[in-house]
Amino acid sequence: MNIPKEFQITKLLHQETYLDNGELIKWNGQQDEVYSTISSTEEYKPTLLGSIPHMDKDAALKVLNSACKSYSQGQGEWPTMKVSERISCMQNFVAKMETKREEVVKYLMWEIGKSLPDSRKEFDRTVEYIYDTIEDYKQLDRDSAKFFKRDGIHAHIRRGPLGVVLCLGPYNYPLNETFALLIPALIMGNTVIFKPAKNGVLLLSPLLEAFKSSFPPGVVNIIYGRGREVAAPIMASGKIDVLALIGNSKSAIALQDQHPYKNRLRLVLGLEAKNPAIILPDADLDLAIEECISGSLSFNGQRCTALKIIYVHQDIREEFNKRFTKKVDALKFGNPWEEGVKLTPLPESDKPDYIKELIEDARKKGAEIINEKGGKLSENYIYPAVLFPVNKDMRVYQEEQFGPVVPIKPFSDIQEILNEMADSSYGQQVSLFGKDIQEIAPLIDTLVNLVCRVNLNSSCQRGPDVFPFTGRKDSAVSTLSVHDALRSFSIRTFVASKDNAYNNEILQELLNSKTSNFVSTDYIL
Ligand code: G3H
Repeated sequence: MNIPKEFQITKLLHQETYLDNGELIKWNGQQDEVYSTISSTEEYKPTLLGSIPHMDKDAALKVLNSACKSYSQGQGEWPTMKVSERISCMQNFVAKMETKREEVVKYLMWEIGKSLPDSRKEFDRTVEYIYDTIEDYKQLDRDSAKFFKRDGIHAHIRRGPLGVVLCLGPYNYPLNETFALLIPALIMGNTVIFKPAKNGVLLLSPLLEAFKSSFPPGVVNIIYGRGREVAAPIMASGKIDVLALIGNSKSAIALQDQHPYKNRLRLVLGLEAKNPAIILPDADLDLAIEECISGSLSFNGQRCTALKIIYVHQDIREEFNKRFTKKVDALKFGNPWEEGVKLTPLPESDKPDYIKELIEDARKKGAEIINEKGGKLSENYIYPAVLFPVNKDMRVYQEEQFGPVVPIKPFSDIQEILNEMADSSYGQQVSLFGKDIQEIAPLIDTLVNLVCRVNLNSSCQRGPDVFPFTGRKDSAVSTLSVHDALRSFSIRTFVASKDNAYNNEILQELLNSKTSNFVSTDYIL
């Protein structure tokens, strides 16, 4: 097996500690082995990468205690700290994180099969996200460094933390999406318990020391193990104030159901989606095909924003299908570090069989695989099948495939699609391909009410991370972006005082003495 030296697994990574109350605590219980579906030998065999703690309820509750103690119902050091001090902890963390790029990228490739350029992009994008968050937080602080007066009352309004956050990220962006929750939650003064997803866990090991040394004890806590064994009891304690989860609605609902005081629980959720591409008859086909290829198959379609169904107008379906399938079959499959590779091993060992089931179901119900390589199975992959014509009875129409299969459904009347989208359980984004503004204009006006981002002649995507990322129906709760996430993880809180000499003198003294971290008109540049 030709694996470049720098990416070879020469030593197993046994993560034997977890982060609790600012200490890396040795886990003395069971360790779970971590395998990559990528083979290191010519004859296929999953590669052992190392192991992680299989923590239990008692250990999880101990960690919860640390997070609660650190928050101390809003009285802890972290939630009451000066903005500039929290920022300096974050700056410290990101500087240390940047030194770990190569190690993290290597594990991103092995653990989730993400290509080398995409793994590097995920790391760099995350670092940029942290810097942008710091800048946005400074702006938020500058905007709050003032008093308002209305009806004879002075008000000093800021945003304050919400409490203890349970943060669970997805396997497809184990760094970026998780940190897009974790970082804003932390910087706003919340304390966090973070549990990595089932795949993409060891890549966090190089960052544990940075977490430990950059924040006060108990502010960031990292646990390992099964969701139902560690996350469920944490929720059942009723001590979690925010559930921040990117994943699927089933797990989000199961966790919410554990919480005894549902009205106290805030939700920041990024959930499933089935983003459609709509190809109108006058679309620029070269452009549409290019965008649909990357939209449906980058990272093998394992993106919540992936195009998961393509609606093609009857008049152009033959031409679209012919050219699209040719491009699909030209995509190179290989290991993540191989030059020019576009399709890579699937990290979930049962995924190829699941995709095969979807294909078989669709074929039984009248669809065909229209590309030559479609459905070719290997130990860790199934080559993307383009299925046509897809109908509503097929599982591939109903389920979020989150993998390499592309359903195409023909249409003649655009209203059919709008109705289908309106009836769908999802509402994240859409890609609309066409040119005639007379046709596009009313469509845009409707589509913006069915989803939360209409991508004109381009594939769906989350980025740039400064743009709002959210969804309707089963696709999301609350909004993420550099700017919005700071709001999602905080609440408006303020000090009010009647405008009279007695109060004003106190306020003035508070400001002059700089004794309060909240009542202050100082700001950081
Ligand atoms: O899995 C969902 C991600 O948020 C998608 O992000 O569009 O940047 O790949 P992306």
